[in-house]
Amino acid sequence: MGVFGLLLVALVLVDYFATKVATDAYISNLRQQLADKGRVLALSFPEPARFREEDARGLAQAAGGRLTVIRSDGLVVLDSEANPADMENHRTRPELIQAFGGAVGSSIRHSATIGIPFLYVAVPIRGGAIRIAVPLSEIDRQVVAVRTKILAGTALAFLPAIVIAGFLARRISSRFAGILAHAGELAKGNFHARLPDESGAEFGQLAHTLNETAGNLQNMMEQLQHEHTELEKVERIRKDFVINVSHELRTPLASIQGYTETLIGGALHDPEYNMRFLRIIRHNAERLARLTEDLLTLSRIEQKRQKFEFEAHRVDDLLRDAVELMAPIAGKSQIHIAEAPVAAGAEVWCDSEAVSQILSNLLDNALKYTPAGGSITVGAAETGRYFEIYVRDTGAGIPADELPRLFERFYRVDKARSRELGGTGLGLAIVKHLVAAHNGTARVESRVNEGSTFYFTLPTSEAALGGERLNAEFTAL
Ligand SMILES: Nc1ncnc2c1ncn2[C@@H]1O[C@H](COP(=O)(O)OP(=O)(O)O)[C@@H](O)[C@H]1O
Ligand SMILES: [Mg+2]
Repeated sequence: MGVFGLLLVALVLVDYFATKVATDAYISNLRQQLADKGRVLALSFPEPARFREEDARGLAQAAGGRLTVIRSDGLVVLDSEANPADMENHRTRPELIQAFGGAVGSSIRHSATIGIPFLYVAVPIRGGAIRIAVPLSEIDRQVVAVRTKILAGTALAFLPAIVIAGFLARRISSRFAGILAHAGELAKGNFHARLPDESGAEFGQLAHTLNETAGNLQNMMEQLQHEHTELEKVERIRKDFVINVSHELRTPLASIQGYTETLIGGALHDPEYNMRFLRIIRHNAERLARLTEDLLTLSRIEQKRQKFEFEAHRVDDLLRDAVELMAPIAGKSQIHIAEAPVAAGAEVWCDSEAVSQILSNLLDNALKYTPAGGSITVGAAETGRYFEIYVRDTGAGIPADELPRLFERFYRVDKARSRELGGTGLGLAIVKHLVAAHNGTARVESRVNEGSTFYFTLPTSEAALGGERLNAEFTAL
């Protein structure tokens, strides 16, 4: 493991420097001691001639090493361990060259006589030098003792560090693996992934940042997804609408074209058919006119090109006008039409043209889908800041599962019947848009064979209309 390799390198380095430092310290210390002793000796023995043979051993003992006295010409005069007569000339010994020059000289080398490393220190005296030598084997022993202590101490100090380092390394690498895995998840697009542990300074920060990034990405993805679905929905509605419009236009156009050609092809002069065909043509032309008019109305409101003139209007006036407009048709269909009494003087804040169109669309439906003998009631009731106006009939009713989509463009419970009755399938969509322009809502309650009630709300005052209309509803249609 890397940590142990590191420890080994550290120990080797520590050993090397400890040895070097200890050795150097010992040698320089020893050199100093020997130099001092030499200088003291030099005080008593200022020249080689003062030394006597019999003093050699005692002086050497006092000096703490082998004592040698050498004359300036290199001749050994006295030696505590050998006979000077047997010793070679010492003129070239480095420590003596320095001492003869007047300075304290020193040198380390193997002794020619004994064969072990020695430290030689030479102190100058008049006409020669005093030299003290000690074997370095002693120093080696002492350095080894110090080294052992330092190494043991170092190892001992390192051991817990290693254990802790190993533990930390494992912890760090496992957390790092976790973070890597997490980053991998993010890269794969799994933005739900989160790192559970956000503790610790650097790692915690990193984990926190990654989690935050994941959160941001997740939000962004969700938003994009949402926008995408919305766009898809709008696009689908738009496509459906275009298909519906072209389909609705094609049928009457094809009919007009077919009958016109038949007439031109000769039927014009056939009294049996010409009037019938012309009536069919007129019927389809009327249908086209209704369709295009409804489409234009819708697109005007949707694109907000429709200008509304909001004013206070009495509710009973609005209801009466609408009922009066429809009364002749109701009379023809033998349907009773009436207004329920409304609180006297009650007012709504609205565009009267728009409300007239809402009511006439609802009444038109009620008349179409109520058989002879039925009745239609128009009424209103205040609910807080809004007036809820209703158109109730005792007609065919609408199955519950058809109700949610009833206000969509071109949505009809019975397409063929609606066409037969001259419907465009846009009446309720227009109602919904006009009501929304008043910041109101439209809804329906119905039971099959019992009848239907269509409700819509209008604000009671300018304040209730609100600055912001719920235009968002328009695109949702
Ligand atoms: N009063 C009602 N009674 C029964 N069905 C109704 C009534 N009003 C509307 N509907 C149903 O809702 C559909 C949509 O109405 P509308 O948008 O006005 O289209 P249209 O009247 O041109 O068919 C109608 O085709 C009909 O099926
Ligand atoms: Mg209608």
